[in-house]
Amino acid sequence: MPNEIDLVRARINIVDLVGQRVLLKRAGKEWTGLCPFHDDKNPSFRVSETLGRYKCWACGASGDIFKWVMETQRVDFREALEMLARDAGVTLSHRPSGETKSKRETYTQAMAIALRFFRDELPKASHAREYCESRGLDEATILEWQIGYAPDIGDALASRIKRDGIPLADAQELFLVDSDAGGGFYDRFRGRLIFPIHDERGALVAFGGRLLGDGIPKYINSGDTPLYSKRRVLYGMHKAKEAIAAKGQAVLVEGYLDVIACHRAGVRTALASLGTALSEDHAKLLKRWCKEVVILYDADPAGQNAAERAADVLQAEGLSPRIALLPSGEDPDTLLRSVGPAAVLRVTEGGVTPLDYRLKQLGERLDPSTDEYWQEVVHAIAKEPSAVERSKHMIALSNRHPAERDPERALRNLRRQVAAAGRRLRQSRRFAENATKPAEVVVDRSLHPFEQTLFRALLEEDLRERAHLAIQDERLFLTQTGLELSRAFCEAFPERPPLGPPANWLSHLEPEWARQRLGDLGLDQTVKIDGDELSGAVSRLRLELEKRSIREMHRDTQLDDEGLAEVARRLRKVAGTEASG
Ligand code: GTP
Ligand code: MN
Repeated sequence: MPNEIDLVRARINIVDLVGQRVLLKRAGKEWTGLCPFHDDKNPSFRVSETLGRYKCWACGASGDIFKWVMETQRVDFREALEMLARDAGVTLSHRPSGETKSKRETYTQAMAIALRFFRDELPKASHAREYCESRGLDEATILEWQIGYAPDIGDALASRIKRDGIPLADAQELFLVDSDAGGGFYDRFRGRLIFPIHDERGALVAFGGRLLGDGIPKYINSGDTPLYSKRRVLYGMHKAKEAIAAKGQAVLVEGYLDVIACHRAGVRTALASLGTALSEDHAKLLKRWCKEVVILYDADPAGQNAAERAADVLQAEGLSPRIALLPSGEDPDTLLRSVGPAAVLRVTEGGVTPLDYRLKQLGERLDPSTDEYWQEVVHAIAKEPSAVERSKHMIALSNRHPAERDPERALRNLRRQVAAAGRRLRQSRRFAENATKPAEVVVDRSLHPFEQTLFRALLEEDLRERAHLAIQDERLFLTQTGLELSRAFCEAFPERPPLGPPANWLSHLEPEWARQRLGDLGLDQTVKIDGDELSGAVSRLRLELEKRSIREMHRDTQLDDEGLAEVARRLRKVAGTEASG
């Protein structure tokens, strides 16, 4: 296994890999670009072929080819390895955890059987076909979205799954079947139009089922399963992600049919959360692909409330939401069918900031001459994260205060009130965070500049030998991190330093933080390195060591005359070295 990992590492060029997602420009020995993990204005992101690593100096993201795939595709190490091995033409022999892996295969197989089954059933069910027609779902759309039908028979899918040799207990975990009191199994989805749900990478993870006609519940969605967490999956993401990345914008709608309608209308950036409000995880997922999200929910009060909450969640993740207003009583699906694609496109291009939206709502709901209106206004402005936006609105509103005629004074009052409301808001947020999140242990991984130079030299072939020798002396280190990193390095390479570019050996360094810290140093432009830098750093570290030992001697009150003389002699020497060095 480790050999296979190294083989994959040797065959995949990190610059090519990262270059598929990030526009990279050469900068000396390295490559730079805009960081894909945060909203980067200047290229803070660097990739080094010799190190086999990337690092963002603004947000701190860093790693090797495997970490890159794990982070950008949201997969675990094993999956990243499998994907890269495929690209590298490396056949992986045995699996690390045979049991869980084969379980996963069973799950995938069961889902595929269910999808096949649902899709085969649709053409056979005339009332389901008629329903599709009535909803404007033509052949091409049914094909594209793999829409199917679950017949209204108690255990049709259950018996198919059993026939194909999949344990029904596994199918139960996938929300395909459930067990009855008698120990038998029945289908979860019955008499419903089926919408397969894929994750970002296009893996089938869940299903949604809609009744043909009215009734309760209108929809049944898979609950959370080993393959699916509704808080993390957005319907349509796998089809929309490229368009979203290209446009820098996503369109968030309420349901399956709205997503499908938008795509049919040419809005290929549409997606929806499924039977749940937009979550923090959804926002994080979106943030990897775009900056702006247009929220296109129903115009009814429930839809508008949900839109405001979604806007809050997106804003909290640093995304820029816009709330688009649908004509009353319409959703994208009905709009497409009643007016046409151009109308759908037009609404997605409208849309106002959450603050504009809230102020407009307030104006409709409350009388601007009342205190209540102004209290709500202050609260709405305080929620806006951008100071420029806050200021713009306060200035605009300061002319309209009913009690305070002097706009200057009105503005001052408004600023004070908004600032106070902002403080209260942040306080309650902090409180909520502390209540829900366990305190994170933050480990300080900073190194002294001399230590940085010393470790940086380990990455250079011509200096490695000398640096390796120097780090053997544990007393030299000024920080705990320096000490631990030197121990980690000496443990990984005890006898002699490793050979060749760091990309070949960095992965053997344990633990992960040590690998990362050393890799980051290689990409740190502020750390200069050559033979003189190394000698300088080593002698300064020795000098610091000497000073420390003198200080210790000095603290020793039992010192006799000879001891004092020794301290004095060493002090003079240190002072001399410092003056000349
Ligand atoms: P149509 O009524 O067929 O046009 O669907 P819709 O998507 O317009 O329905 P609606 O706006 O009522 O709901 C939006 C989304 O919320 C749906 O696509 C579902 O994901 C979810 N949803 C709606 N009703 C239910 C329900 O009864 N149960 C669950 N679990 N989810 C629902
Ligand atoms: Mn609808």
